[in-house]
Amino acid sequence: MDNIVLCGFMGCGKSTVGRNVARKSGRKFIDMDLYIEKKTNMKISEIFEKYGESGFRDMEHYACIELSQMSGLVIASGGGAFTFKRNIDVFKGKDTIVLLDVPLETIKMRLKNDKHRPLLQRPDKNKVIKELYQKRLPLYNSAADIVISGKNTPLKTAYAVINAVNSIKK
Ligand code: S3P
Repeated sequence: MDNIVLCGFMGCGKSTVGRNVARKSGRKFIDMDLYIEKKTNMKISEIFEKYGESGFRDMEHYACIELSQMSGLVIASGGGAFTFKRNIDVFKGKDTIVLLDVPLETIKMRLKNDKHRPLLQRPDKNKVIKELYQKRLPLYNSAADIVISGKNTPLKTAYAVINAVNSIKK
């Protein structure tokens, strides 16, 4: 069984929807950030502090390579992973890449109280979210095999993902 890889902006619901997709499709769920944290025995925020964003991006790339060699997974990628061609190339054509599409205003609301994501711990957070979102959305769209609205409940969105994945395989 191939992998389903969820991509999209921070706060679009990749992990919560991903858990539901895994449960309902008989796959194993892997959160890419947790996978990196377990492997390095460090929190993502510590990795950013110690090795900078570029150090984190290298670890993320290795995680993509390792996870793509496994099968039967639902992978919730980190929000930056599918903005890099080298990561898209790892999964493209092998696994099904699904973008969870959530409007900017909803994302801003969901990330309002975030205290963990290193890129967002700054006073001009909303400006950063808007700029990153506008820059990244076209990249996510071109990476994705399927685009699903992430505005519904995680369970409804999960069923929409599973149905769409099944229908492109027919
Ligand atoms: C990032 C998103 C985070 C995490 C890291 C960088 C990004 O994952 O990988 O903080 O660049 O968008 P989530 O999308 O799960 O928050």
